Amino acid sequence: MKQTMRLDKLLSHAGHGTRSEIKILVKKGLVRVNDRPAKDSGVQVNPQSDVITVNGEAVRYREFIYLMLNKPQGVISATEDTRDRTVIDLLDEEVVHFNPFPVGRLDKDTEGLLLLTNDGKLAHNLLSPRKHVPKTYYAEVEGIVTEEDGQAFERGVALDDDYVTMPAQLVILKTDSSGWSKIELTIMEGKFHQVKRMFQAVGKKVTFLKRLSMGPLLLDEHLLPGEYRELSEEELLQLQHATAVQ
Ligand code: URA
Repeated sequence: MKQTMRLDKLLSHAGHGTRSEIKILVKKGLVRVNDRPAKDSGVQVNPQSDVITVNGEAVRYREFIYLMLNKPQGVISATEDTRDRTVIDLLDEEVVHFNPFPVGRLDKDTEGLLLLTNDGKLAHNLLSPRKHVPKTYYAEVEGIVTEEDGQAFERGVALDDDYVTMPAQLVILKTDSSGWSKIELTIMEGKFHQVKRMFQAVGKKVTFLKRLSMGPLLLDEHLLPGEYRELSEEELLQLQHATAVQ
């Protein structure tokens, strides 16, 4: 982390409003740095060593935010879009000002675990193909999924662009003779529409898809679609550990 930063940036990250709102607070003399009124909202401060207060209350600064979202269907995994609602539109202002972005993508019609953060290094590590972070999905499939499909996924299947997938693990939860199945699939990579295209490769169609986990991070089942929460310290440590090895 940089040693110093602008006071208004620090305060806006800490949830004290926009730059112009902070300027007003400073003008009113409500912001103090090391017990002296701040003269200017653009002054450089050191978040580690300077004591900053607003209205007499100490400001706690932190650089990063880590959010677990249960992504609902119908929103896209992007920070901006001209047509569709994005996952950022689901967040409250108090976390949006950290500028989080989604770590990887889920399709518009896919639900489930999506991590949002402004920690570029962790995001990069989680997405790096070299780290082989496993992702587990629950899917409902048109067609009767068989053990042979599981063996094919274990060997690797050729997708529609001839890419052969890395070994993946299939668990068949339920099949019905009327022609549908419920499964869980764990994949180590994140190719475009990968789960849907893997089932396409064995002649079946995914009709519902939900991500349950990403590395050690499990979707909190208390989160309804569209809800989010910050990661616990333990979850964050586990994620950092999972991406640090290798
Ligand atoms: N595989 C897919 O087909 N879609 C997703 O959203 C994620 C994995």
